[in-house]
Amino acid sequence: MPRFAARCLLLALLCGSFVACGKPAEDPNAPWSASELALLRSLTPIPALPPSPGNRFADDPRAAALGHKLFFDKGLSANGAVACATCHNPALFFTDGLPRSKGVGTAARNAPTLLGAPWLPFLFHDGRKDSVWSQALGPLENEVEHGTDRVAVARRIATDYRTEYEALFGPLPPLSDAARFPAHARPVPFGSAQPEHPAWLAMSDADRDAVNRVFAGAGKALEAYERKLVPGPAPFDRYVAAVVAGDARGGGFLSPAARRGLRAFVGKAQCVTCHNGPWFTDKGFHNIGLPKAPGQSGVDVGRGFGAQQAKSDPFRCGTPYSDATQCDELRFLNPRFEDFLGAFKTPTLRNVARTAPYMHSGQFATLKDVVDFYRTLPGQAQVGHREFILSLLDPQVEAADLIAFLESLTGPLPPAPWSSAPRSAAPHT
Ligand code: HEC
Ligand code: HEC
Repeated sequence: MPRFAARCLLLALLCGSFVACGKPAEDPNAPWSASELALLRSLTPIPALPPSPGNRFADDPRAAALGHKLFFDKGLSANGAVACATCHNPALFFTDGLPRSKGVGTAARNAPTLLGAPWLPFLFHDGRKDSVWSQALGPLENEVEHGTDRVAVARRIATDYRTEYEALFGPLPPLSDAARFPAHARPVPFGSAQPEHPAWLAMSDADRDAVNRVFAGAGKALEAYERKLVPGPAPFDRYVAAVVAGDARGGGFLSPAARRGLRAFVGKAQCVTCHNGPWFTDKGFHNIGLPKAPGQSGVDVGRGFGAQQAKSDPFRCGTPYSDATQCDELRFLNPRFEDFLGAFKTPTLRNVARTAPYMHSGQFATLKDVVDFYRTLPGQAQVGHREFILSLLDPQVEAADLIAFLESLTGPLPPAPWSSAPRSAAPHT
């Protein structure tokens, strides 16, 4: 007798009925129905990269090589100690293992994985950027992340990456002309006492535009690198491929627990309503009614502001810095504050077992905590309305099974050389 059946029989004898014990009544090895199989096929494999019309260097190998160096370059930070890789560490599937990231200061949110980002129409937990290249400019000038400014970034490129940069983007402006280009200048002030903002306002329009172009170029190189970050197939992908090829056992790639978890994920637990498609995200924004993070002051309205910011971002699609003139995703985005209050992007679940802690502010330490949240839906939304009325988890669904399934979504890291620092790092930091 298969072990599962024996367990059910024993439990049935002890409790009198399967349902009263909260055990799944169906056989985990039962064949997939046609509709389940259609759902499974919609979740795999990882598709080809989508085009990035706003970045004509997105698939240029020279841009990826430059972006690779910039990604690991701590010299692009105010204190010489922070690189993109600090918070998006390849060994942690391009996250940092912290509830809230630490750069020059401490961020309010959790660092998402970068694997899957090129497939997203809107970036950040609140979707305030409409491209991977324009997203990359945010952390550089963020006062708690790199804490630097765009003129300093342009100068760094001129001193350390001039040849590579100019081969792609053309001649750099005369940044050594201190009368025209101050050492530090940024359009967004950190605080009232700092001189970088007035320094920016004092520059001519043409010089500001020239610096913006270099800044955008850095973002475009970073995007070309991020497009190399595609993980290998996970046990889940191999399982479905085997089932589709006619092997009812799915090549043995999923344990019985993971198979039960998968059946719940696409069925009773309703996870696939939002975590769908090959990256396990509908790319949409939802208010799932999370508690505040420990120590969080005020409420985080998420997409409420994010949608408005995406519409007005100075590097969005259609601006002179973008290589695309029209993008439907942005054009048809209706940034009504109330519609998006407290909503955050549905994150990918690929490699999720390796990217703890979870949620936009690291509210949960483990996958067990996440599943328990969906099971009980405690408390109320901190702002706006939680989207579900009923708990997502049928009492017959085992938390351990769902977790076993989520663990089957871990694939190998992106191939060499992309998951480690480039061999020829910048000459100085
Ligand atoms: C101090 C830590 C830190 C540094 C440094 C940092 N990031 Fe992030 N990154 C974060 C956090 C936190 C978020 C989420 C912020 C939010 O949603 O408001 C994020 C979000 C992202 C996203 C969006 C992913 C998604 O799913 O929407 C991308 C892409 C990204 N970062 C790339 C980069 C790049 C490229 C750099 C270097 C230029 C960088 N990050 C530097 C912490 C950091
Ligand atoms: C209504 C849409 C929706 C449904 C249904 C849903 N999720 Fe989510 N899920 C989200 C959103 C949105 C987030 C991110 C919330 C945030 O950070 O504010 C999330 C976050 C997560 C995370 C954390 C990922 C990370 O990297 O932080 C996991 C794990 C997860 N969901 C698993 C599940 C499982 C398992 C189910 C089924 C029981 C499920 N979700 C059902 C929308 C949904």
